[in-house]
Amino acid sequence: MSEICKNWTQWLKKTRFAGQTPEMIEQTTKWLEAVRDVVLVYAEIQPHETVIDIGCGTGLLAFKVLELQEGKGNVIFSDMFQDCLDDCKKFLEEQGITEGYEFLKCPAEHIALPMSTVHKALMRSVLVHIVNKQPVINEIYRILKPAGKFCAFEPIIRSNTRFWEILDPAHIDKYEDFKRVENEIMDNPMDSLCNFDENTIRTNLEIAGFSDPDVKLQEVSSGYVVQPNMVHEWFSNPPSPAQPSAKERFLKYFDYPTVEKYIMQVDEYLVGKYISLKTKAIFINATK
Ligand SMILES: C[S@@+](CC[C@H](N)C(=O)[O-])C[C@H]1O[C@@H](n2cnc3c(N)ncnc32)[C@H](O)[C@@H]1O
Repeated sequence: MSEICKNWTQWLKKTRFAGQTPEMIEQTTKWLEAVRDVVLVYAEIQPHETVIDIGCGTGLLAFKVLELQEGKGNVIFSDMFQDCLDDCKKFLEEQGITEGYEFLKCPAEHIALPMSTVHKALMRSVLVHIVNKQPVINEIYRILKPAGKFCAFEPIIRSNTRFWEILDPAHIDKYEDFKRVENEIMDNPMDSLCNFDENTIRTNLEIAGFSDPDVKLQEVSSGYVVQPNMVHEWFSNPPSPAQPSAKERFLKYFDYPTVEKYIMQVDEYLVGKYISLKTKAIFINATK
């Protein structure tokens, strides 16, 4: 586990927002709600259905399904980490919500349910944290009832703007070396964050048995002025509790003073500048 972030609940509630201004946090929250709502539109949730949120975290999808079903269905909050389930449980207790849900602690690779038991399987940003995605998608296919749906959102991190694209070689020592290493990090087939794209996921779905799965690619451009301390947060905060930060990744290739100098120069060059970023993501809508 990272020293900065000890578990997923902390990452979801705090770490992912580190360095963001209050306006950016509000924007991110609205974006998360919008993503959730698109996944749920695809899922066409009906009141009496059994719906599983796989890797539910703090319950972004599951709580909304519970609200849509008004407690008449069965929402399965599922995650392999107890802190996530405890956090969701605490919220439900505080709200006095006692029916229409259950908890399931298991890894997405081995979902502790018999075959053909759920009408809808939902997921947001979970495959991106699992190196081998095929067993997970096979499991989802297995637990879905016939004509059941798998609806999900995943970011395609390897298509994101890279540091070297927003830097000026004239201001960064060893710019070409850092560019080469960053590209190498993004091409690592053993890194769950960047070892997939829309095409590999479509293939995973077809291999699992989904015929003609819909995998919609979304491209988003955004921009903002880099604030003091933001660069430091980008490099030091891990993308998940168990994964190395960008700084730790660079430290596998360069010595400490070289990485420190690089981060300092990135900071000096970017703080106060407006940067344009592109990100890609997919929405999955697959029927068994
Ligand atoms: C980025 S969070 C997303 C949480 C939630 N789905 C959301 O949209 O806010 C990733 C989640 O996946 C869970 N997770 C990671 N690896 C998993 C695995 N192998 N099996 C089940 N859950 C996993 C983590 O515990 C965490 O809750």
